Amino acid sequence: MKKILLICLLVCTGAWQIQASGEKAIRISTDQTDLVFKVGNNGRLYQSYLGSKLLNESDIDQLPAGKEAYITHGMEDYFEPAIHVVHNDGNPSLLLKYVSHTSANPQPDVTETTITLKDEVYPVVVKLYFDAFEKENIIKTHTEITHQEKKPVTLFKYASSLLHVNSDKYWLTEFSGDWAHEVNMSETPLNFGKKIVDTKLGSRADMFCSPFFILALDKQAQENQGDVLLGTLGWTGNFRFTFEVDQQNGLRIISGINPYASEYRLDPKEIFRTPEFIFTYSTEGKGQASRNFHDWARKYQLKDGMKDRMTLLNNWEATYFDFNEDKLVALFDEARHLGVDMFLLDDGWFANKYPRSSDHQGLGDWEETKDKLPNGIGKLVKEANARGVKFGLWIEPEMVNPKSELYEKHRDWVIRFPNREEYYFRNQLVLDLSNPEVQEYVFGIVDNLLTKYPGIAYFKWDCNSPITNIYSSYLKDKQSHLYVDHVRGLYNVLEKIAAKYPDIPMMLCSGGGGRTDYEALKYFTEFWPSDNTDPVERIFIQWGYSQFFPSKSMAAHVTSWGKQSVKFRVDVAMMCKLGFDIRVNEMKEADQQLCRNAIQNFNRLKPAILEGDLYRLVSPYEKQHSAVMYTSKNKDKAVLFAFDIHPRYSENLRPVRLQGLKPAARYKIEEINLHQGSQSRLNANGKVYSGDYLMKVGIPLFSSSHTVSHVIEITEQ
Ligand code: GLA
Repeated sequence: MKKILLICLLVCTGAWQIQASGEKAIRISTDQTDLVFKVGNNGRLYQSYLGSKLLNESDIDQLPAGKEAYITHGMEDYFEPAIHVVHNDGNPSLLLKYVSHTSANPQPDVTETTITLKDEVYPVVVKLYFDAFEKENIIKTHTEITHQEKKPVTLFKYASSLLHVNSDKYWLTEFSGDWAHEVNMSETPLNFGKKIVDTKLGSRADMFCSPFFILALDKQAQENQGDVLLGTLGWTGNFRFTFEVDQQNGLRIISGINPYASEYRLDPKEIFRTPEFIFTYSTEGKGQASRNFHDWARKYQLKDGMKDRMTLLNNWEATYFDFNEDKLVALFDEARHLGVDMFLLDDGWFANKYPRSSDHQGLGDWEETKDKLPNGIGKLVKEANARGVKFGLWIEPEMVNPKSELYEKHRDWVIRFPNREEYYFRNQLVLDLSNPEVQEYVFGIVDNLLTKYPGIAYFKWDCNSPITNIYSSYLKDKQSHLYVDHVRGLYNVLEKIAAKYPDIPMMLCSGGGGRTDYEALKYFTEFWPSDNTDPVERIFIQWGYSQFFPSKSMAAHVTSWGKQSVKFRVDVAMMCKLGFDIRVNEMKEADQQLCRNAIQNFNRLKPAILEGDLYRLVSPYEKQHSAVMYTSKNKDKAVLFAFDIHPRYSENLRPVRLQGLKPAARYKIEEINLHQGSQSRLNANGKVYSGDYLMKVGIPLFSSSHTVSHVIEITEQ
């Protein structure tokens, strides 16, 4: 009996491997990747390997120990630590030793490994969690910190993940920009020292840079070859990635909440759970790495990731604040005529004392403006539904304009200094979500609307301001908790909404792409990548986000921002979740017809565009052209989008080589999204080719004209 118990204990704690190999090895594997930890003779945990999967189990024994896995401040390491704790006696040291590890399968093809570490001098425990998604080759990791000291312990640093990478050269791609100029990809070599990518904006946190990166080893990142690591943090607030190359050219990547102004006083037994860091390691370049992320997101992370998406007509650019009931009802007719699933009413429908007639007032007062909408939202839902169109609504519930009744009543709910002049971003302030009363109020906005108008079928949830004037009257002497507790408060609200209204689709918007992280996307079916809807700009923006996010998570609308042809605008928007934000009736009939036709094509081709595999064929960063294709999972259908942007005079134009097809199968090429009655000018149109030919030789798709586009449907014969 004792023997059985002992075996069970050894298996459960992983100590079995100690016996087998003489050294404790903890192997976290997907189908293509291995992350291996070992426990040294000194009891400390080391990261021994990260890379392409090792084929022979016995080779694990031969791996060198590597570098300490979760480096602590105060001991002998000379570079950036993952954790920095000050104990209640003022001692700033931490030395973590391996205690145990467990492994379980919460779902088929997912293995969850937990490694427990402990300080032997102070009662502090750190647990490292790893979820390995085997088929998608994604590893998701986070940390939990807890202690049993008598008084609170202060956490100065608390990383979600520390990874060691070893290579001759490192190339980092970051995604940065500004409002209407999101996710510009720039790649730089990493040499000795530190490179930090972070934000301290609090909310709308990704306005200048996004919480994801591409790390290429040896060579610059390529689409279809080479080792790359793509990583992202699921945190809707301040994040920080630190890349540090040491004196031996080893790279450590520390990812987590930005500890800037965020020391956290942790009470005894309280658990500090860090956000999740999610990464994939690909030996076939960033194309495969992106497909790993897309598959994983649809299956495990994005809200309703495996479900359908609605096409829509939005009224933001079509009307801005200038609308009333009649104008909206006329737009419902346009939506019906266009053939979209839903109408989305944007900003400007609420507040009475200070009606929301511009962005200067009204935020916080979530009641319909009576003179604009005398019969309320209920009437609008009814009118839209009568036309076979669903009704969606814009809200920005975490914010307040100082010119509002909410501000007049509840200044204590606002993040602001009680004793200083206020500084505004877009004329507004952020509500203090660290305060449970405010969380309740924000939940109540959605709850009241859905209770009163159960016909509301969708929300666009906006967040237009970073946190300015950082002070919470609720947190009192714990001001340094605000950045962290504010985000946790937001999650409490979203969790409550998800529990009560699990089926309501929502768009995550933040003045464009100011919020684009995978934790928020647990609660949102899609996000708004940018307020910039000029299609040329969108080719770049969508290219950038596609590195991490699947097409079905990205809303793309046809608007009148760009002056290109309607066809060009439609073709760009159709690469993602298609929508419109334009006065349809003001378009030429031929263009309206083209839009209607494109919506039908989109609906028919959703299995490839929204559920399929993305292949980025020609980068707009490298050429004056761009092409991407989506291939359905069984490879019987593909859709290719090709764009001439601003070609140079007399360019040498090469055929575009396709990817992701079956070499032996034969495919018909048909150009779609054409104006009624016009013929395709592509030579390949109507012809049948083998998949092998299309992938090795390719077909001519580009021209030297400016802003010309083609959408090609490719069908197995
Ligand atoms: C933000 C959004 C826009 C629109 C406006 C409304 O800027 O990104 O799409 O909803 O707010 O004020």
